[in-house]
Amino acid sequence: MASVSAHPDVMEKLVSLAKRRGFIFQSSEIYGGTGSVWDYGPLGVELKKNVKDRWWHAMVRARDDIEGLDAAILMHPRVWEASGHVAGFTDPLIDCRNCKRRFRADDPAIKGTPGAPDAQCPVCGSKGTLSEPRMFNLMFKTFMGPVEESAAIVYLRPETAQGIFVNFLNVQQSTRQKIPFGIAQIGKAFRNEITPGNFIFRTREFEQMEMQFFVEPGTDEEHFEYWKAQRMEWHRSLGLAPDRLRYKPHEQLAHYARAAADIEFDFGGSLGYQEIEGIHNRSDFDLGRHQEYSGKKLEYFDQPRNRRYIPYVIETSVGADRTTLALLVNAYREEEVPGETEGRTVLGLSPSIAPIKAGVFPLVKKDGMPEMAEKVANDLRRAFPIFYDDGGAIGRRYRRQDEVGTPFGITIDGQSTQDGTVTVRDRDTLQQVRVAADQLRGYIAERIGTTE
Ligand code: GAP
Repeated sequence: MASVSAHPDVMEKLVSLAKRRGFIFQSSEIYGGTGSVWDYGPLGVELKKNVKDRWWHAMVRARDDIEGLDAAILMHPRVWEASGHVAGFTDPLIDCRNCKRRFRADDPAIKGTPGAPDAQCPVCGSKGTLSEPRMFNLMFKTFMGPVEESAAIVYLRPETAQGIFVNFLNVQQSTRQKIPFGIAQIGKAFRNEITPGNFIFRTREFEQMEMQFFVEPGTDEEHFEYWKAQRMEWHRSLGLAPDRLRYKPHEQLAHYARAAADIEFDFGGSLGYQEIEGIHNRSDFDLGRHQEYSGKKLEYFDQPRNRRYIPYVIETSVGADRTTLALLVNAYREEEVPGETEGRTVLGLSPSIAPIKAGVFPLVKKDGMPEMAEKVANDLRRAFPIFYDDGGAIGRRYRRQDEVGTPFGITIDGQSTQDGTVTVRDRDTLQQVRVAADQLRGYIAERIGTTE
């Protein structure tokens, strides 16, 4: 359990802002909601897409030693036997016979030993109604084809990684990559978590961004250190505060793992530091198991040295939703505005991540200002997501964009129609500068930065 953070708990405020402003909605809300499943609204989908694009760019497009992949969610059921998920992807589960609630066995709210008469249910408070722990598999099961028989069972993948392992040779041979090289993919994963929660932190349907780097045994330690450093740098490049990020080495390793470390972010409040990404040295376990279960050789042939071996794998595995939540928590602030009675709520998202890059506002709805503002908006819209708003006092319009993290506010005023300049307000400094309307695209592009 993480200790209480020095950063405030902003989760409740974020959940409310996310719904009100169209970032994230509860799934199937009109039916009372689906437990721990969330839908991304117009602004949320842009924000998460920016996160995924940044990852894809850094991991695939900007490198010549990593290839992209988009494997199917449904895989041969033997995959999950080989991977160990059928036997071991379990959590100990406890039921309360009285209130029918379920808990993980290590839930600190449980008093006493589950199964014993003194054990007390943390929800209904009754004693002696908690079952002994039983192992519960977190994979969602379904059936393939029209017949519901055990032979037709398939699983919704609980991680994207296995799609990479089973395609290792397909990718290597079709691209003629030489070891060391990696395969990266972004995709949905599903886990029937017993205790999901904290908004989009732990959900039953989520997106992972995973990369497996295949290396020669013996070189794995240096690659592990390299990827640890690279991945931390990536999180910083998104704008996550360096003093809220840390490494957490795993004290207990899975039997096949040679090393593992998490990158943790401080989510504030009682949630505190929590994993956002795992970096694992998985040895030759995965390819070795798939070779054994499929009966197909998954060796790499090192031609110059005339040597065959099963590569070791360094894995980097990060949640797109969890990173999005970290960015929202990191960005949320409430502050006073000098000279104004009303404070403001700001999402201080880095401009490259912000869902909308600029708000465009005619100061008043007359004297040619709306016409010029629409022209400016249409021109900018070809390059970036922008938002046109001509409703209400200009201060209100700025506040509405501050709250969703829009870095620039462009106002077309009386002077604009005379000399062709507009004001550009910076979300964070509140400073306004005059910029020629025909220079705006370049001005904003420069400040949004590259896709590094
Ligand atoms: N292939 C390795 C793997 O899946 P993991 O630590 O179970 O490792 C990696 O998951 C990342 O996926 C986590 O760091 C987290 O960001 C994300 N993740 C895992 N379970 C999640 C859940 N239930 N909801 C949201 N994100 C989750």
